Amino acid sequence: MATNITYHPTPLTPAVRSTLRKQSGLTIWLTGLSGSGKSTIAVALEQALLRPPYNLHAYRLDGDNIRFGLNKDLAFSPADRTENIRRIAEVAKLFADSCSVAITSFISPYRADRDLARKLHQEARHSADAADGEDGEGGEGGLPFIEVWVDVSVEEAERRDPKGLYKKAREGIIKDFTGISAPYEEPLRPEIHIRSEETGVKDAVKQVVAYLDARGLLR
Ligand code: PPS
Repeated sequence: MATNITYHPTPLTPAVRSTLRKQSGLTIWLTGLSGSGKSTIAVALEQALLRPPYNLHAYRLDGDNIRFGLNKDLAFSPADRTENIRRIAEVAKLFADSCSVAITSFISPYRADRDLARKLHQEARHSADAADGEDGEGGEGGLPFIEVWVDVSVEEAERRDPKGLYKKAREGIIKDFTGISAPYEEPLRPEIHIRSEETGVKDAVKQVVAYLDARGLLR
């Protein structure tokens, strides 16, 4: 980290900003194996939130897509994946802070990286002194972070293999492939658990929307 830098504060905490903007910001963090359906659910969810009756500002950040631009310098080593997730967590936090709904769809295979993403939201900073949300979400400075596990077995993901990547991983053409030759650490306490083998896209979106509604986050 650079030295000789000073945080520039703002009185616009999430609470103040969301009152002015009439929308609360949050991050919906989808995690799961390649082929679990993260991106498909994220696309449908983004549309559902943007359209009536919710009419929310929502924006999707997708693993493959972001690797064409912002994160084009990163590959799939553990260190690169950690940096990938750290950057996306910071970007999602900025979207959430601007009162938008950030929907991220990244494998994000490491628990510690997802926990860091959560912590960055909880400790979102607006004053010169770091402001920690007491309840972890929605406290002074805290931004809601909703972890959504799109759960699929490796066997089913490999059967689907929409991009032919599992086949290449089995043949050794792709190294360090999540689920085959690189780990996926399952979430322990996700806010939402979507069982992708039993849940269609429409129902997955309904499950997320119902959760957000119950938490009073759809406004
Ligand atoms: S990570 O682990 O969160 O940093 O990965 P992410 O940024 O989500 O990128 C995953 C997409 O990259 C493609 N791909 C691979 N995935 C896993 N392991 C390896 N080695 C790999 N190489 C390329 C793949 O298309 C992933 O997209 P999804 O949408 O998950 O299938």
